[in-house]
This record gives sequence, structure tokens and C-alpha cells, in this order.
Amino acid sequence: MESMTKSNDMSDVIEADRAHIWHHLVQHKPFETVDPRIIVEGKGLRVWDAKGKEHLDAVSGGVWTVNVGYGRESIARAIYDQVLKMNFYGGSVGSVPGAQFAERLIEKMPGMSRVYYANSGSEANEKAFKMVRQISARHHGGRKYKILYRDRDYHGSTLATMSAGGQNERNAQYGPFAPGFVEVPHCLEYRKQWDVEDYGRRAADAIEEVILREGPDTVGALCLEPVTAGGGVITPPVGYWERVQEICTKYNVLLHIDEVVCGMGRTGTWFGYQNYGVKPDFVTMAKGVASGYAAISCMVTTEAVFDQFKDDPNDPLSYFRDISTFGGCTAGPAAALENMRILEDEDLLGNTLRMSERLMGNLHGLMDKHRVIGDVRGKGLFCGAELVADRDSKEPADEKRVAAVVADCAAQGVLIGMTNRSVTGFNNTLCLSPALIATSDDIDQITHAIDKALTNVFS
Ligand SMILES: Cc1ncc(COP(=O)(O)O)c(C=O)c1O
Repeated sequence: MESMTKSNDMSDVIEADRAHIWHHLVQHKPFETVDPRIIVEGKGLRVWDAKGKEHLDAVSGGVWTVNVGYGRESIARAIYDQVLKMNFYGGSVGSVPGAQFAERLIEKMPGMSRVYYANSGSEANEKAFKMVRQISARHHGGRKYKILYRDRDYHGSTLATMSAGGQNERNAQYGPFAPGFVEVPHCLEYRKQWDVEDYGRRAADAIEEVILREGPDTVGALCLEPVTAGGGVITPPVGYWERVQEICTKYNVLLHIDEVVCGMGRTGTWFGYQNYGVKPDFVTMAKGVASGYAAISCMVTTEAVFDQFKDDPNDPLSYFRDISTFGGCTAGPAAALENMRILEDEDLLGNTLRMSERLMGNLHGLMDKHRVIGDVRGKGLFCGAELVADRDSKEPADEKRVAAVVADCAAQGVLIGMTNRSVTGFNNTLCLSPALIATSDDIDQITHAIDKALTNVFS
């Protein structure tokens, strides 16, 4: 593709960025001598930076978001048409695309029935947390207010979602956190915490132990990622989810699945939990809902939960007294409708499964060649390779060298990710989440770059 950026001088933009932009999640000292990277254009899986350099983006916008790829004219048009006609009205009233998208979404989520719109994954998660607290206050006499979260999971950047954050490096220096959030152990079998045969069941039993320790009448909800993303691409061990479901039913604990990363096709099913036969009470989603073409998040729940917020119309406190101003923007659901159409018409769930096989196969091939790869994990086009200094002891690779692999790939024109300031000592997993339109050639280009980078950095 002929890029505009090749002909335009972007030095003013780079200087304005250097002078005024506070980028997310990065230390800025290096920008005193190195230019910040500015992405100017995108098409398909490829992006061009301000210097005209082309990159294959293997992380869908850095943070597993642009599931249908860049440059989708039909989504841009859907947004244009909608915002020209009606851009916004506060969410106490409805909108045409809001109603239409909710209907389409619920068709994909048997058992669920209500959609609450907001803007970010963090915000959607907070809505669910607030609902759990209100159900506790109204229907359990203030008991069942505790929310369980899992070590290594992430649910957002706000203080309440960080209170449910299982990544100590993300949380460090931002406390104190909100009370009533309790951690359960992670389920990463590669870093076993129990020496047993049936690891999935044992890891889930650990949740029951926490519930019993806290007192089942104090625990309202359990919030989990279906596949842990930034905490190390942790796929659940066999049997884990079945047991989690049993435990939630047994103790009347609402199950909140955070689909902010897995949501809308990333794992080859519409939602990650659908791989495991789980029946959630809350499902939150954001990134892949409109592939980053507009800001939208959804908190989806069941009619049984919804009913608890309308049981007494004479009580002024009996309904969900919450608003998200920009949850009333119509660009989000308009983009989401078109995003969903693309996922369906182009069979991107099917492509995800096919390309997943190739990506996982290639990564296992690299594992045979490079001893530094200790484990390969993934579901759909959501994959990780954990790097270790020693395969036997599983000592994690030095994160500076892991970062050097990411930098080497970028120099080759392939953008990959790594676990970043998540868990101390475990920022050692390479992360891959290409757009769901990836072809075999794209996948091979990604793993070829990693192969070369591992050789350059570790031999
Ligand atoms: C699993 C998960 N939940 C929630 C969030 C927070 O989403 P947002 O950054 O849109 O608030 C993220 C962001 O990376 C995430 O990975």
C-alpha cells in the first residue's frame, strides 16, 4: 500500500507528541533521545508509522483489540451515517443501534438477556461490581458483598478494578484499595502450586477453600478471565471450569466472566467462556466489540439478575442508579453491529481456528529449536510463549532479554507483545494476538521474526 506518511514530513507531529503526550504504560525518559513511535495508518494487519516504516501488527493494536483488522471502510461508513443522524443521547433513553446490537449480541449468548452500555473494559467491570454490591445490600441484608478475583488476572485500571487485580506490579504504589475484594490462586499448570494428577479440579478447589475461609454467606461473586491475558496467556487446565461452575452454584456465588480480551471471536468462539460450557451471571466485554473503531463496552447479565433491580418500584433506591455518559454514544453500537456482520460474513471465527492451529504449530516448532521457550499456550488467535532461563528449573528469562526479543521483532517490522509490569519476576511471556483475518503467510511471517529474534538475543 502506498502510504501517505512516506511523502509527508511528520517531524512536527513527533515533536508535539514528545512535548505534550503522556503515553500509556511507558517510561518517558528514553523519549529525550529516541523518538516516540506514532502510528499513522493501518490496513488489514499492517500499520505504518510516522517515518513510513511498515509493520505487521501481531497484537491487534498493541492490546488485542482490532479483531477485524484496520481500514474497514464499512465500519467507518456505519459510524458516519449513524452519528450524522443521531450521535448521542444519555442512556436513560434508547437508541436504534443500541437496541439492534443488544438483540444481535444476546442471540450469541444463550442464557443472557440484558446489556448495559459503557465505554471501557474497566468501566464494564465496575458496573458488575456495583450490581453485586447492590444485590448484597437489597437482597442479602448486606452480606454476600465480597468479590473474589484470581491471582494474575487483570480487570482494569480504575481503583475498584485494581482492587480486583491479581497483578502485583500493576497495583504497586496505587493503594490503598477498596475493601471486600479477595484473591484466589491462579490456575497456571506450568507453574504448579499443587503436585496432583487432576490439576484443573485442584486449582478450582482452591477457590472453594477461599469461599469456606471467608464464609460463603459473605461471598457475592467470582470474577475471572476465561483465558488470562496480560497475566501470561494462561489457558485453564482441563476440568477447571466445570468445577468452578459447580462451586459457584453450590455457594450461590455469581459468576462474572471478564471477556474484555476474549470477547468477540478472539478464541475462535464468540466468547471465551463458550469454549468451556460455562453459564455466567455477568459477562463484560470491550476491546473486540467494535475492534477499536469506536469506544464501547458492554456489561451483559441474565434476566434473573436484572429482575432484582426492579422488584419494588415504590422504593427510590431499588433500581441501578448508575450512568455512563458516553454509554449513550451511538457510534459504539453502530460500529459493533458492522463489526459483528464482518465476523460472520467473513467466517472469522472459522479462520481464527484454522490460523490458531498454524500459529500454535509454528510456536511448538520454535520450542523444539529454542530451549529458551519453556511453554507455549493459547486458544484461538490468542497465544503466548513463556521464556525461561532454564527449562528444568523453569527459572523465568530475564525480562530485559524478553524485551530485546520484542524490540528485535519490531526492528524486523513485526510488532509482538510481552507481559508488561504484571507479576514480579514473570514479565517473561511473549504475547501474540493478530487480527482474526490473518493468513498463513502472516502467521509464518510473525513466527519467522520471533525465530530470528530468539537466535539474535539468546545465542
Ligand atoms: C481482561 C481485561 N479486563 C479489563 C481490561 C480493562 O479494559 P480497559 O482498558 O478498556 O478499561 C483489560 C485491559 O487490558 C483486560 O485485559
